[in-house]
Order: sequence, then C-alpha cells, then structure tokens
Amino acid sequence: MKKIVVLLLLCSYISSYAQRNKQIIIQTQSTSLVLTVAKNGRLLQSYFGKRLQSAQDSLFTGGQEMFITAGMETALEPAFRTVHTDGNPSLVLEYVSHETKLTDNNVTETIINLKDPVYPVTVALHIAAYSRENVLKTWSDIKHTEKSAIQLTDYASGMLHFKSEHYWLTQFHGDWAKEMGMEESELTHGIKVLDSKLGARANMYQSPVFFLSLDKPSTETAGDVMAGTLAWTGNFKFAFEIDQRDWLHISAGMNSYASNYSLAPNETFITPAFIYTLSSNGKGEASRNLHRWARNYGVLDGTKPRLTLLNNWEATRMDFDEKQLVTLFDGAVKIGVDLFLLDDGWFGNNFPRNDDKTGLGDWQENAKKLPHGLEYLVQQAKEKGTQFGIWVEPEMVNPKSDLYKQHPDWILKLPNREENYQRNQLILDLTNPQVQDFVYNTVVGMLDKNPGIAYIKWDCNRTMSNTYSPFLKDKQSHLFIEYTRSLYKVLDKIRAKYPHLPVMLCSGGGGRTDYGALKYFTEFWPSDNTDGLERIFIQWGYSYFFPANTIAAHVTNWSKVQSLKFRTDVAMMGKLGYDIKVDGFTEKEVQFTKQAVATYKRLSNVIWQGDLYRIISPYEENRAVLMYVDDAKKKAVLFNYNLNPRYKQILSNVKLQGLNPTKKYRIKEVNLFPDTKSVNPDDNKVLSGEYLMTIGLNLAAGKLQPLTSNVYEITEE
Ligand code: DGJ
Repeated sequence: MKKIVVLLLLCSYISSYAQRNKQIIIQTQSTSLVLTVAKNGRLLQSYFGKRLQSAQDSLFTGGQEMFITAGMETALEPAFRTVHTDGNPSLVLEYVSHETKLTDNNVTETIINLKDPVYPVTVALHIAAYSRENVLKTWSDIKHTEKSAIQLTDYASGMLHFKSEHYWLTQFHGDWAKEMGMEESELTHGIKVLDSKLGARANMYQSPVFFLSLDKPSTETAGDVMAGTLAWTGNFKFAFEIDQRDWLHISAGMNSYASNYSLAPNETFITPAFIYTLSSNGKGEASRNLHRWARNYGVLDGTKPRLTLLNNWEATRMDFDEKQLVTLFDGAVKIGVDLFLLDDGWFGNNFPRNDDKTGLGDWQENAKKLPHGLEYLVQQAKEKGTQFGIWVEPEMVNPKSDLYKQHPDWILKLPNREENYQRNQLILDLTNPQVQDFVYNTVVGMLDKNPGIAYIKWDCNRTMSNTYSPFLKDKQSHLFIEYTRSLYKVLDKIRAKYPHLPVMLCSGGGGRTDYGALKYFTEFWPSDNTDGLERIFIQWGYSYFFPANTIAAHVTNWSKVQSLKFRTDVAMMGKLGYDIKVDGFTEKEVQFTKQAVATYKRLSNVIWQGDLYRIISPYEENRAVLMYVDDAKKKAVLFNYNLNPRYKQILSNVKLQGLNPTKKYRIKEVNLFPDTKSVNPDDNKVLSGEYLMTIGLNLAAGKLQPLTSNVYEITEE
C-alpha cells in the first residue's frame, strides 16, 4: 500500500544497523506496529501499517511519540496529563524495559515499561496482538510512589499517528430508537471529538466506534481503513487531531470530562482497552477481523450457540398475570423457540410495578400477578417444554418504592437540587459496596432460588444527570469512572457464580453496546425500534463492529404495514427472537413462523459464526443485500431486502462474495411464506462460485414490491 497508514518520519535519519535504536516489533498476520526507543529514551511509533515482510530490518527509527504527554514540548491533545504532588503539571515517559509473552499460539502481549525520569510515576503499556484476527488491543497501568496522591486529568488508553493526504472519519450517532446512524466526513485541521458523557452507558448520541479511512473514503472492499472501539461501558472520548504538518493523532480512552482522578501512591489506575484493526481491503475486512476477535476473545461464549426466544414486552407490557403468562408459554412452544422471556412488570408489592412510575428496586414477585412466584413459572415452562428467562434492571430505583424509602443514601442525586428523573427513575450509587452487594444479591439470590432460570435480560433505562454520589463524598470527580468499575466488579462476581448463563444487555434500547460489557454478556439489545425497515439500518450499523450472534433482533408488531415475512427476514440476519402475540397469528402465520424458526436454527451457525459480507448498502441503494459464509465456504446465507424500489427501476445483478470460485453451489430460496414460490430464475440451480461472484444473481426478478425480502441458502454440491 502506497500511501499507507505508514507512519514513518520522513526526515528520520537512516543509519547502519549497529547504530539503530532499540525497536519493539508487534505483528499480526497482516499488520505491523514498529516502536522505537529514541536516543532521549522516548517511545516512538515508527510504523503502523501493512505487515512488513522483514520488520526486523526496518529502517524506520524515527516517528511520533507514542503517548503525547502534557506539559512538555508539545501542545497537541495529550494522552496523559498528571499534576504531581508538588504541583508540577508535566509528565515525561521514558523507556525502561519491555517483555513479550505468548498468551497462546495466537496472542502475544507486549508490556512496555515507561517512567518519568524525575517523578516516581510509571506507565506499563500493554499491547496484545491477535495474530489470526489482525486485531490489536492496548491499555495501560499507571502507578506512582509520590508521597501523596497525584492528579490524573487525562488518561487515554491508546494513541495512534497517521500521515496521509486526507483522512475520512465514519462515525455512528443516534438517539433512542434511532441508534447507529452512519455519517462519513473528511477531517480538517484541528480537533474533532467523538464522545459521550452519559455515565451509565457509552452509547446513545454517539457510539464508541469509528472507522478512519486514509486518503479517500474506503468502500466495503477497497481502501486503507482502521476500525476502532473502546471496551468501556461509560463516558468515552475519541479525539482526532490533524496538526500543522498534516499528521493525524488519534487518542482513545475514557472521557476525562469532570473526571480528574486523584491517584493514591501505589494504587494502579488501569485504562480500558482500545481495540483496533487495520484493513487494506476496505471496511468489510475490518469488520470481519473484529467479528472474529469478538467471537474468540471479546464476547462471553462467543463461539457457543444462542437461545431463540419469545419475549412478552411488546405483547403485554406490564399488564399480565400468572395465568396469562402460562398461556403465552404455549406460543413459544408452538413456534419452536427455545425460551420464554418475561419482561418488566413482575415485581413490587407496596408499590406494584404496573407502569414505569413504581416498584423499581423492590425485587419481590408481585403477589397479585404471580401468587406462586417465579418458581411456579419456571416449573410451568418446563412442563410445557420450553425454558424461562427474566428481565431485571437492578441498578435503578423508582422514588415510589420501598428501596427508595429504606435507603435514601443509596441513590445518585445532587444535594440541594431537585431530583431529576428519566423514565421516573434514579440510579443507585453502585460505587457504594453495600449497593454492589444489593445488586449482586438481587440477581444471584433470584438465580439461586430458581435454578431453572435459563436467561436474563439486564436493562438500564436512564443516563446520569444531576448526579452526585453520597458514598464518594469529596471524590465526586471519580464518579463516572467508579460507577463503571463497580458495575464490572458486580458482574465479575455474578459471573464467578454463573459463568455461562446467557444474559442480554439492554439499555433502554441500544445504550450499552461495547466490548467492556460484552465480556459479561452473550448478546445486546440494539434498539427498541423493531420496525423492519428501521432495523435494517440499525443492524447494518452495528454489524460493522459486532458479530451477528450478539445483535438481538426480534420480530414484533411495531410496524403495522410490513409483512410478517419481511420482519422475520430482517430479524434473521441477527440473533432471532420474537416479541409478539403468537395467539394473534393466523394459521398460515403460525406455519410460516414455525418453519422460519426451524430454518433459522438450521442456518444459525453460518449466521453466528460465518464471515459477513455487506454487498449492497441501504445507504446507497433502494435495497440492502448481505451474506454470511461459513469458514469452509461450503454454506452461505444471503439476505435481500427491497426497501422502496421505483417503478421500472433496473437493479443490476448482485455479485456474491466470500465463496470458493472453484466450488459449485446450489441456490435455494428459503423462508418462503406458505403457498408462495420463488420467482428467482436461478432458484434451485447449481452455479459455480466463480459465476456467482463475477456474473452474480438477479435478485430483482418479478414485480418488485417495497418492503419485501428473500433469504437464500447457498450450499456446496
Ligand atoms: C427498555 C427495553 O429496551 C425494552 O425492551 C423493555 O425491556 C423495557 N425497557 C422494559 O421496561
């Protein structure tokens, strides 16, 4: 790659091998990161780009300082800023030593120890390289032995430096029910910041993910592009700064907004991981790198199967009782999903949870709705031949609850100010160990008492505002950081007891969608918006950074105009579930859905574990086409969605990707509605991989209707 991601200081002096400075070479199968220790001891990024065949012979000994620190020669946006005990607001980081460990035959972890030459402050920079996945993960441990606390006012997880003619940033933004809208723009001189300050989640207005394309916008299949994300379920900040010499400096980490951290001597401050990958073949390859990494290393049980389910939120809201629920179990059995998921509204007695104004925090079964408790529901589900899962939102409280009355000091709220509600609720002060125990005991107590519970949906329906922690007292600037750390502490403890229970992460739609949390969760709820058309865009957005087995996608009645087939086909590109009244289905709809669930189960391994190829983007055409291909290239699943094709619009053939050109494949349209037939002229034909990838399929045969869709199973003959 010519104008590569390469970070080579052009003016660097090339000397003989013997005079070269110490270099640290970190590689994956297709990426090299070369770091150099400069004569003054500073650590430089000399090269970051396509894998060098002989990186050891690298002549690049100059570069950009790996971590820009505040207070010294440079005025660029710093990765680190410290104020020492004596008030000195500067930091210098010099190389001390490094080691590289082989974690397994695919992963190396390089730890580079840096220290300030004058002040006893050290930074251990960790860089894990996932060879096959071509993913790098970086974080730091910051420590000191000054006589009292030092102030950390900036603490990025990682920095990267690029030199290119142009830089194109793709960001993902949104709101409730409008998550992951994609936007691409050229960066200009100065600083562009993507961040969030929502406290109890990362995502909503901005998502903690981005693409950076070099020179020109990358496509799915072409261009030099980097994908990055932060493993942190709280405030994040990505800063992109183009300096006066046209270098781009990226720093990524927790948001330091209102978060000066007072670090005690010998305390270790660990930054969250910045995860990134490089591709010289466009965004598609970058996504596949991240997906593979996520399944193998980033998501709980990422290579294990998931449960299909029927949820009752859209169908009943909080208006149900035991008898009704047991009847709903029949729906789950009828369509063949694995599990019934009971949503919000099952708890609270003095303040029954009949709407969102009361009961949060009082995690006892409502005696009127569930006179025989959860135990009975678990038992009934079993008898009917399904499994039982349950919704909780254990970090939250309604003012109208026993919990609020009993523990007013367990709640995040400002003194001397009005309480500020979102969805009539407040957040518990999770930094308080007593609250951590409460949350742990709520969840684990319920699971211990009802060992048959097979699934949890963990919700979190508000962001932080007017926030103050009674527990942290004069350390309010630690709140954002400590909240997320405390959440992880509780989740670690729960996972120690229930390591593999499937849990869906939800946050009033898609608020918690990050790899910090996904270590503990098997999947996430991407959005409350389940309209099929909207979901194509929302799921498309998430698909850039998260594998299909993490993206929960439910068939609902949100849309009044889209066919059940269309909504089902959209949900099938993710982790299929239902949130609908099955007893409202016609006979044909039941027949279709039963078949759809069976088809999905047959194909799910390809969808969950296969490579994703986004072929036609809904942002570019009036349709969306994507496919998953298994590792052996024996089986693929193709999804085609017609959004709003114009009258007589000519849609060209769709060239498939990811197949083996020398193999022959049978094309079979599946998931057809009862009594309908495929109109695709190639249905049931056997065609070569080469044909499919060079001539392609006509997916627009027949009279195209808006909001229609097809699913094709492609199998090696
Ligand atoms: C928000 C979630 O996104 C919904 O799916 C549902 O679980 C409600 N909360 C319940 O309060």
